[in-house]
Order: sequence, then structure tokens, then C-alpha cells
Amino acid sequence: MDKYTEDKFLWGVATSAFQLEGSPHADWSSWDTILSEKPEITNHYELYRKDLLLLNDLGVNAYRFSLEWSRIQPHERTWDETAIAHYVEIIETLVKSGITPMLTLHHFTNPLWFAKKYPWHEDASVDIFLAYVKKIVAVVKDVQYWITFNEPYVLIIAGYFEGCIPPATCSTQLGVKALVNILKAHAAAYDIIHAACPNAKVSVAHNMAALAPWSKWNPLDNLLARFARHFYNQSLIDAFATGQLRLKLPFKEQMRFSVPIKGKLDFFGVNYYTRIHMRFNPFKKMGVEMRHLDIDGHGLTDMGWEIYPRGLQKMLKFASTLNVPLIITENGIATKDSHTKIQFIKRHIDLVEHCKIKHGLDIRGYFYWSLIDNYEWLNGLDARFGLYKVNFETLERTPTSAATYYSYIIKNRKF
Ligand code: FCB
Repeated sequence: MDKYTEDKFLWGVATSAFQLEGSPHADWSSWDTILSEKPEITNHYELYRKDLLLLNDLGVNAYRFSLEWSRIQPHERTWDETAIAHYVEIIETLVKSGITPMLTLHHFTNPLWFAKKYPWHEDASVDIFLAYVKKIVAVVKDVQYWITFNEPYVLIIAGYFEGCIPPATCSTQLGVKALVNILKAHAAAYDIIHAACPNAKVSVAHNMAALAPWSKWNPLDNLLARFARHFYNQSLIDAFATGQLRLKLPFKEQMRFSVPIKGKLDFFGVNYYTRIHMRFNPFKKMGVEMRHLDIDGHGLTDMGWEIYPRGLQKMLKFASTLNVPLIITENGIATKDSHTKIQFIKRHIDLVEHCKIKHGLDIRGYFYWSLIDNYEWLNGLDARFGLYKVNFETLERTPTSAATYYSYIIKNRKF
């Protein structure tokens, strides 16, 4: 029997290095002024041993985390072996505790030198990234689950279309070029990882959102939502299935690229948070206006995102057309209210169960975002996603009742 099919369901939590530990060498550090006041964020880089114990307290059997590339390669020709040893120690600690690591190689941030000299829209970026991947696979043992890139589309839309995160380049043309390069880098990284660990399971983590028309009676809003669903959710899935990336933006010709990613996927990582309503508005960038509406009465999160659990089911159904196992690599809520956090977790996990048991979808894991409160890219320290609350003055971590609830779920849900 395929070893994979007898694997246990992965119950995990997800984090990213930069959001917990910052990095003096990352492009993002010179981007956000909040970080000059709190560059170490939760200081996980020093406190990691304590934080890893929280995983045991929770009872998770898996942990998704990322390597901060800019710590590992702070300058173009410098590898920081101490930083590499630090991450290797994290992996060894997890394995000793019986916790399956899921390793993300790229989670939004780049080394500053890379961002300046080889931004993703430059073709040279691919080989530079692959040198980092080779360095990592040479030292990392015992990792079966790999995420090459976290949310490539978020990186491109926010970084190039909207220009609200680094590299803050407002050019769809360069954004599309960057996306193609990232997908090429994924394909080559997939092969590098497999050559070193034949048993590896490699994916990206794809942010998927339920996208709906602002007014369901308005044909233009409907058309736009259809375009957006194809662009944002579907085009990557199609590219993994066919090797063809087809992108259609409003008022633009369809673009088509051959990308070498066909079949370069052992499972599919889905990050799901919310539903977005959209309409045409000629005064907005690319003619699109978006907002969150509390239509089903589940409320909005502290970041104003609609709580829409049913969207997770829809996304999992879309993704299941790939015919590879699915893992929910992120799902979570920013709220200071533990009761709301518990309701969110319950509703989403009920749906995972429904999709798996009733609809037979091949879902292999669920990772709650996040273990502890951390730095949220555009919202600073106020978006409280953690199962553990962090006091950003004292750096003390305190369990919320959502942590107790999640532990209870893990013990009692038998998928
Ligand atoms: C996701 C990101 C993750 C975190 C959550 C809230 O899109 O992957 O880093 O910021 O949103």
C-alpha cells in the first residue's frame, strides 16, 4: 500500500518565520515602520524552544513553519551556517516529539540583496532561489512535507498589481512575469527536493477565496466575479493540471504561458480565510472594487474579513479536480474574542469533516493559522490570530480558550 494512504490525518498549526521573528536582512524590514519599533516581533528566534513546547501542549501532530531565507543567506555570497543549524534544530525537535514538520521555503519575504538585484520579475531570480533550495535540501533530513511558495498569487497581486507590499511595483506585466518565474522555480525546486528525498510530498500553499458579485442582480458584477474566480482560484489549478497558465484580466487580452509545473504536485495546499464581494468601479485600480459583507450573519473578523465557512467547502471542491490529496495549510481568524475564535474553528472543521466523510474528498490535514499572535503583514500586531495570546511588551504567551478547544477537537475528531 502507498505509504501516503496509511498516513494519519495531519492536525497542525501554521506559522511563518518572518511573522514571528523578523529579520534584519529581509526586504520587508525596510518596508514597514512598525518593525523599526519591534524588529524582533515575538522574538521567536530566541524563544523557539519554549514555543515548540506549546505544540506538545496543544497535542498537534504536525507543524507548518517557514525558513527565513534572509537569515540563511543574509548577503549574496554568505550562507549563515548558524541560522541553518537553528532551523535544523527545530526540525529535529519536532521529529523527536513525534510532530510532522511541513517546511515552507518561501513565505513572502526575500533577502534584501535579492529583492534589489534579482526581483522575481527578472529571470535570474529563479536560479538564485534554486541555489538556496539546494543548500537546504543538502542539510535538511526527515522532512516529508514541503511548501515551495506560500500564496504566489497574493505575492503578485499585492506586490505588483496593487503595489501595497514589496516590491511595490505597480505593473501587471511585471507581476505576470514574476508569477511565471515563481512557477518555474516551483517546478525546479520540486525536482531538487525529490532527488534528495524521494518520499517527499511537495506543494505550494494557494490562497483561495470565495469571490462573489457585490449585487447578485448586476450582470457586470457577476461577470467580474466569474473572471476573478478563474484568475485567482482556478488558473493555478489548471496550470498544475495542464502546464498552461491562462490569465484573463478585465479589459485585457487573455495571456497564455507554458509553465513546467504539470503534475509537479504531491498534494495541494489550500489557504482559506474569507469571502470577498466585488463590483466594477472605473475609479478603482483595474476597475475593481472589493469589500466584505456580513451576509450569512457569521460576522466579520477584527480585520473586517467575512466569516464564511461554506467557502472552504467550495474551495476544496474546486481543488479536488486536481486529483491529489488536499491539505488545508492555513485557516484562521483575527479576533480578540476567544468565543468567536472557537466558533470559527468549529464551523470550519465541521465542514472539513463533511467534505471528507460525506463527499469523499481526499483531505489529509488541517493547519490552524496561527500558533501564537504575530505580525500580520498589513495590519501590524493588532490582528490576533493566535491560539496563544502574546503580550507584545513582555512577550509572555498565554493560552486562550481556543487553544483548549482545538486540543479537544484534535483528541476527539476521528477522521
Ligand atoms: C495568509 C498568509 C499568512 C497570514 C494569514 C493571516 O494569507 O499566508 O502569512 O498572514 O494570511
